[in-house]
Formats: sequence, structure tokens, C-alpha cells
Amino acid sequence: MNRLPGRPAPSGKATTMEQDRQWLSTLLDIGRELWYMTQEDVKAAGLSDADILALTLEALIAHGRNEYEMPAKIGLFPSDEVFCHAMPAYVPAKLALGQKWIAGNASNPVKFQRPQTTGLLMLNDILSGCPLAIMDCAWITAARTPAVTALAAAALHPDAETFGMFGCGVQGFGHVRFVPQTLKKLKTITIFDVSEANMDRLIAEVQPRIAPRIVKGRSLEEVAKSCEVLSSATVLLKRPQACVKRAWVGRGQTILPCDLNTFWDPTIPWEADKYIVDSYEEHQLFERIGYFPDGLAKVACETGQVLAGLKRGRDSKNQLIVCSNIGMAVVDVVVVVSLHLPAEAARVSLLHWRVD
Ligand SMILES: NC(=O)c1ccc[n+]([C@@H]2O[C@H](COP(=O)([O-])OP(=O)(O)OC[C@H]3O[C@@H](n4cnc5c(N)ncnc54)[C@H](O)[C@@H]3O)[C@@H](O)[C@H]2O)c1
Repeated sequence: MNRLPGRPAPSGKATTMEQDRQWLSTLLDIGRELWYMTQEDVKAAGLSDADILALTLEALIAHGRNEYEMPAKIGLFPSDEVFCHAMPAYVPAKLALGQKWIAGNASNPVKFQRPQTTGLLMLNDILSGCPLAIMDCAWITAARTPAVTALAAAALHPDAETFGMFGCGVQGFGHVRFVPQTLKKLKTITIFDVSEANMDRLIAEVQPRIAPRIVKGRSLEEVAKSCEVLSSATVLLKRPQACVKRAWVGRGQTILPCDLNTFWDPTIPWEADKYIVDSYEEHQLFERIGYFPDGLAKVACETGQVLAGLKRGRDSKNQLIVCSNIGMAVVDVVVVVSLHLPAEAARVSLLHWRVD
């Protein structure tokens, strides 16, 4: 595919907003045109897993250092099943400004034969505010979420040899692919899903790409008890399902849920030695709207603060650490501004915008 060059990476103070806009202006008549990128365009836009991990790390460090703007997600809940989240963010050091509009419905795969997670992301020009691009956001969500887990796992449990993944859907696939890239001593990944077919598909597709052996767990209990590092990406519900019981996890483990507290006994974060979250503000917001009916456990610090070296993660091998990453727009926009723009992408004329 014929691609335009990637956006020149803002390196320190070398690339200014003005230089960035000038570069963009050579590709696009800003304010009159924008890029519309399908999922295929985004996927083909040239970021490797290593790029995604590096950009995600930069975004998390910027967040840890408080160098960002990101109001907590605004949510709409048209039914018990469906949520829609508006996720705006600005990360000045990366010249990244935009917003994701993402919806989730756990019934989609069965009811509508559509993915659980769908949505769009818009990027904006910083100096004028004009939209630059609108794109599918399923790819970025599927890529950056496991990258966050993989980076947090490496910071909190670098010597882990065993990893357990609950949920073998879009996120489960990504987690099993990304985690071995940061947990270098990993030998075994144990997966568990209520769908046998999803487990089989994951093994068939991901095993050829990674060295650790992927095995199917026989029960939730077996996986929870046998793995040093655990993650879950199943469904997001207000009422905890408490699938993994308190008695099955303990000291020396690290738990990294992507689905808030749906999957885990709600007492686990309260009894953990440390409860770390990607965004305290976001978790407080979810508590206010009813996602933590038993209350939000005491938060030790944020994931980005650990990755920026501002707070300690694990203090000893014996600790039980829970690190809940519900997903931050700062990561979305920082990864997406580095996409290589496809030269052939449709340029949508903003016909009825009077900008003259
Ligand atoms: N933290 C974040 O940044 C972030 C980003 C995207 C999605 N998510 C969340 O991750 C979750 C998964 O998203 P996805 O896109 O992978 O969905 P998906 O529908 O593709 O996959 C979900 C998988 O979980 C399995 N599952 C459901 N209930 C289970 C249970 N009790 N035990 C074992 N397996 C179970 C399903 O069979 C399915 O294979 C959702 O809750 C979503 O909201 C979080």
C-alpha cells in the first residue's frame, strides 16, 4: 500500500505546533478536508507492536507526570446493556488532541453478530481546532488496552513465568499477543473462556506468534490459583459477578482487570496490599454511577505514576497487587497521531462548512 510518511515524532522541543501544522498542511487542506479511515486503513497504517508499546508508555508517563488534559469519560446508558463513552484527551508533548466515542454491549456478538466494542475516533488540529481525521476506533482500543496491561505487568511483576487470561475475545487475543513482549521470562499462558471455540481460535491464531506455551485452563479456580499474573477482559457490568473468589488469589500475585470489578470478588481490591488504577478520577466517576456498589477501594497510586518512576509499584514479592486499567483517552490519541496516513484514504470534503 502506498503510504504517506508517518507524522514526524515531536522530539522534545524540536517540533512545534506550527511546524506540525505546516507538515499536515502539505497533506491536507485543513478545515476543508479530513481523512476518513476505515478499520482496514487504520490497521494498515504501519504501527508495529513495538511502536504501540513505546507510544503507550509515553502516554502513560505523560499521564503520571500530570502533563495532559483528560476529563473523565462522559457516559450515556441508553439501556442496561449499552454504554457510550465520550473520551477526549490532549497530550501537549505529543501534539495529540482528539476524542474517542466508544460504545460497548456485551450482547452484541450473540444478538447482532457485531463486536462488543465499537466506535469512532476524531483527531483535531491543535492550532485551529479543525478536525483532521475520523477513524474506526476498534483497532486502537484492541491494541492499546493490552499494551497498557503488558507495560503494567512488566513494572509490577517483571519475573513472572505464568500469566492467566480470563476472556478470549478481542482483548484476550491482544493480551496474549502483547504480554510476552514485556514479560520476558514468561513460560506459560493459561487462558479461560466460557466459549470453548474462542479459546481454540485464540490458540490457533496467537500460538504461532509467541514463544510461551498457551494452555486451556480447566476451571476459573485452577487458572486463578496457578498464575502469578492474571488479567480479565470479559464483560463490563455495574453489578460484580464475582467469578473469581477471594480465596483463590493471594500474596505474590498481580491482578490486572480491564473490566473494572465485574469479574472479581469485590473484596479483592480492598484486601490487596496495593490497589493501583490507571485514572483515579475515572474510577471515582465509575463509582458515582454505580459500578462499585461496595465502594471503591483505597487507591495507592496511578499506573502512569509507577511507570514514570514517581511512585513505587511492588514493594516485595509477597504482596498482592491489583492494578485496574479501565482505559484512558490519553493513550488513544498519543498512539493514533503516529499512524502513517494512507495516501489513498478518502478525503471527505466538508462541503457544507462555510470556512471562507
Ligand atoms: N480497559 C479498557 O481499556 C478496555 C478496552 C476495551 C474493552 N474493555 C472491556 O474488555 C472486555 C472485553 O472486551 P472485548 O472487546 O474483548 O469483548 P469480546 O466480546 O470480544 O470478548 C469477551 C470474551 O469474554 C468471554 N466471557 C464473557 N463472560 C465470561 C466469563 N464469565 N468467564 C470467562 N469468559 C467470559 C466471552 O465468551 C468472550 O470470548 C469488555 O468488558 C470491555 O468493556 C476494556
